Amino acid sequence: MSSDTMSGPEANRIIIFDTTLRDGEQSPGASMNLDEKLRIAKVLEEMGVDVIEAGFPVASRGDFEAVQEIARSIHNAAVCALARAVRADIELAAESIRPAARGRIHTFISTSPLHMKHKLQMEPEEVYQAVISSVSHARQFTDDVEWSCEDGSRTEHDFLCRCVEAAIDAGARTINIPDTVGYAVPDEFAALIAMVMNRVPNVDKAVISVHCHNDLGLAVANSLAAVRAGARQVECTINGLGERAGNAAMEEVVMALRTRHDSMPFTTGIRTENIMRASRLVSAITGFVVQPNKAIVGANAFAHESGIHQDGFFKHAATYEIMTPESVGLATSKIVLGKHSGRHAFREKLKELGYQLDDNAVTDAFQRFKDLADRKKEVFDEDIVALVDDEVLRSNDRIRLVSLSIACGTREPRASLELSVDGEVVGCEDTGDGPVDAAFRCIKRLIPTEARLRLYQVHAITGGTDAQAEVTVRLDEHGRTVNGQAADTDTMVASVKAYLNALNKLLVKREKQAPSALSA
Ligand code: KIV
Ligand code: ZN
Repeated sequence: MSSDTMSGPEANRIIIFDTTLRDGEQSPGASMNLDEKLRIAKVLEEMGVDVIEAGFPVASRGDFEAVQEIARSIHNAAVCALARAVRADIELAAESIRPAARGRIHTFISTSPLHMKHKLQMEPEEVYQAVISSVSHARQFTDDVEWSCEDGSRTEHDFLCRCVEAAIDAGARTINIPDTVGYAVPDEFAALIAMVMNRVPNVDKAVISVHCHNDLGLAVANSLAAVRAGARQVECTINGLGERAGNAAMEEVVMALRTRHDSMPFTTGIRTENIMRASRLVSAITGFVVQPNKAIVGANAFAHESGIHQDGFFKHAATYEIMTPESVGLATSKIVLGKHSGRHAFREKLKELGYQLDDNAVTDAFQRFKDLADRKKEVFDEDIVALVDDEVLRSNDRIRLVSLSIACGTREPRASLELSVDGEVVGCEDTGDGPVDAAFRCIKRLIPTEARLRLYQVHAITGGTDAQAEVTVRLDEHGRTVNGQAADTDTMVASVKAYLNALNKLLVKREKQAPSALSA
């Protein structure tokens, strides 16, 4: 969709370009394996994302395979691969998106004086030539080429306009102006976009896009200001994940446009009811917990604590609620499940939560739900999500928990653990500085690795002392990072399962080397 073909309502349609799987994965520690990326891509597709940036194929074999697999599996969104202005990068990106119904190559080069001199060590004229040759090369593989001027917000205006014009002439159909280091402020960034729109003669042949980082907490504000100035694509991530302080949070951009349509008359194709599901999935997979007061998806975003607010809210919800919880997928559900709930109600609940499971998977999940309901009076939506996701996370595990018992309290903590490793049961006992330490020592004795524990995090999925604990364990072995997750009403069981989940991922994780020079 280039702006010259847009008219009427289409002219106000904002293309949502999600880069959770590329820029989001560049958050330190947020590594994802192929299955996890695929699951996120499918949720993004279901929620109506227009373009999914699936990875940076030259960064590693794993990235290449993930982009390729996503390109095979996604049919309704364009699948995009990132490439530097280097022929080999572009060719690999092209190869990775070959199976896609709609594939995009996104090629970039820095254009700011600082980046050209110190990072690229190239003269502006060389960069200008590289813009033309990289875009032309990418166009040999697909009509859908996006060009980005890295550090665009700190680029000299004349040079920026020259490069944008050249990129469009060479065939780029989307021009992305990133605020790479999150330095811009809204008025200034809007003025930059307006300047490009006014000064570049062939700008009507391309969609102008923005990609804002959140170093000053202004990524969403800058993106919206750019939209008012003429940008028609916003690059963003679920939960604002991304390099350093992250990118513009998709849920915030989309809900701001929807809620303040009076002031910003733009639309997106996002089914906002899927927002919570995507947020929870990304958080569970990456181990990046969403802060409780985070806009739209934080646990407190729709909670009313003070008496005055509660009173007003009960008299009329709009007194303190500018959007409904249902609009972001936080349905105050009609179906509450407990131990007397049957298979039919359970299946309906799965549908309501957006799961499409086959009969066998429903039967397995139902059995686990019954086990949980025996231990927990009320089973909330969050519990069901954890229960279904937990099984998917564990389906290929070679190491599994067989039994665990813990003695702790005022005497020395002691763990006794049995694991099944490729079907063979092994066990040991150990003590430690607390029950978690004792249990993890047992695992290390049974499965010796050089993995180091980088993160151990517990959070309660719902309220109450019978709440399930959701545990994230991050392990690092020779620079390879993996996140393991698990949920259980017993925090120790969840901890051991999360550690094992991470170990299982280390066993299958392919070499991934992404030196800083290769991260965009
Ligand atoms: O932040 C940035 O400039 C990027 C580009 C590759 C678009 O991520
Ligand atoms: Zn970025």
